[in-house]
Amino acid sequence: MRPTFRVFAWRVAITSVALCLAVAARANVLPNRGAIASAHPLASEAGVEILEHGGNAFDAAVAVSAALGVVEPYGSGLGGGVFFLLHRASDEHDIMIDGREVAPGAAHEEMYLDGDGNPVPGASLNGPLAAGIPGLPAALVHLAENYGRLPLSESLQPAIRYAEEGFPAYQWHLSRVEQRAHIMNDTALEVFLPTGNLPSEGSLIRQPDLGETLRALASEGRDGFYRGVVAQKLLDGAQSDGGVWSAKDLADYRIIEREPLVGTYKEVTIVSAPPPSAGGVGLINMFNMLTGFDLPGADRVTRTHLLVEIMRRAFRDRTQYLGDPDFIDIPLAMLLHPFYAAGQRANLRIDQATPSTSLQGIQPANTANGNQTSHFSVLDMDGNIVAATQSINFSYGSGYMAPGTGVLLNNEMDDFSKKPGVSNGYQLLSSAANSIQPGKRMLSSMTPTILKTDDGVAILGSPGGSQIITMVFLAGVAWIEGADAMEMASRPRFHHQYFPDRILFETASLSTDEQVHLESMGHTLTPNRRTGGNGNLQIVTWDRRTGSVEAASDPRGIGEPRFFEP
Ligand code: GLY
Repeated sequence: MRPTFRVFAWRVAITSVALCLAVAARANVLPNRGAIASAHPLASEAGVEILEHGGNAFDAAVAVSAALGVVEPYGSGLGGGVFFLLHRASDEHDIMIDGREVAPGAAHEEMYLDGDGNPVPGASLNGPLAAGIPGLPAALVHLAENYGRLPLSESLQPAIRYAEEGFPAYQWHLSRVEQRAHIMNDTALEVFLPTGNLPSEGSLIRQPDLGETLRALASEGRDGFYRGVVAQKLLDGAQSDGGVWSAKDLADYRIIEREPLVGTYKEVTIVSAPPPSAGGVGLINMFNMLTGFDLPGADRVTRTHLLVEIMRRAFRDRTQYLGDPDFIDIPLAMLLHPFYAAGQRANLRIDQATPSTSLQGIQPANTANGNQTSHFSVLDMDGNIVAATQSINFSYGSGYMAPGTGVLLNNEMDDFSKKPGVSNGYQLLSSAANSIQPGKRMLSSMTPTILKTDDGVAILGSPGGSQIITMVFLAGVAWIEGADAMEMASRPRFHHQYFPDRILFETASLSTDEQVHLESMGHTLTPNRRTGGNGNLQIVTWDRRTGSVEAASDPRGIGEPRFFEP
């Protein structure tokens, strides 16, 4: 039977409405402004300056990254490494530039052990022997040349200015100088304690040698750092003070472009850092485990318990399987598979903690502690994205500044496993998968991440050593629950990493009653007494239905977002 005209008209109307709704659901309204969230206002401003000069998000990222190395010298810099996670809007291309440090050619498995095979205290942490070959300068060059619109010489200008004219000393930086002065060499002390005493707040910290090194990078590209005058000064310094770097190590350093890891949770696509980061694997695995639970329906204690048990299981796998994918086989397909997560959920009791000793895996032999790194997020008005986490590892890295360069060397070698069962500075265990080998990248927790739905995007990451992965996880859960950028950044946090077997928690995250209840379930709780709490999330969000862009810097830090509104 043929439909009457009235029925036909209704069908057309309903189909049109459905089509409009479908199109609206997939609307992709371009960002109404550019945004940068970073750990220091001057670094965010450096990025906006470059957007104002016609740069895209990738040029801005070069400027922010280099500026952070100047104004936040304890967190990252030319002497360290970086993961740049990129989304290029023109062809929807997602890629990660792996600028992680590598072990020098003379490195070997026993380099931090004494004659009895025990770790020498501080050997992988202090001085040039603790430093991997830096990757950040090569990553800046690669990012500018392959993705940016502006020459490196222009994008590096704000950092050069901050180095030469100085940045005002601030409390957060001064307290870290105070904590780490005892491991700094004379060159570093001359910069950060020029009179022998802590500078007063607001006095200008000038770094003319670092300005010169940045100028060499700006004019000569890679060769300005990895060959020639700067390279020679780095080698002279490192070699005369116990380091094992060679000219070949510097000249051979290469960034690697890696496919990001992609997972899904409900309607959310998770794009995150692949190995040698442990971040993406852990994050996607935790969301896969979460799929089996009704988090919104859980009371606060059950919710915390579930999230903690998920963290515990993800970190067990970090310990067991992860390292540099160019040196070991990582069972990625297994670790990221929903069926694997279902297996991990199988022994998770809703009413009782699972002791970490009952999960098969590496067991600990000792503990230590520490914390640093820096993250920033960038979005431009074309929808290009950068999530970048960069590090020299601990505050002021190895404490060693190569004379005449202004470059603080990292102490990232500590992120390798010195000996199975012996934890690193973040109390993290790892296995032979993360053993030291020449040219190998040490396992990282840096987790630059992009979350996407049809309606929106969140760009996020944080410093915080092992806690980075769980901070990004909790912030992601918050976004999925409807939190805005500031709530994602500020929600009180807790953390579990398999060993030590305890929940490290910000006191605002659990009431006294909740703590007692969790203890009765078998959990051990340790309040995090770090000044400022855990981490320093930097977040940009984009509502693709309206084009609205928001950004937030973690209230635990001193960062501030900045916007580009032409
Ligand atoms: N250095 C900290 C990390 O990469 O995990």
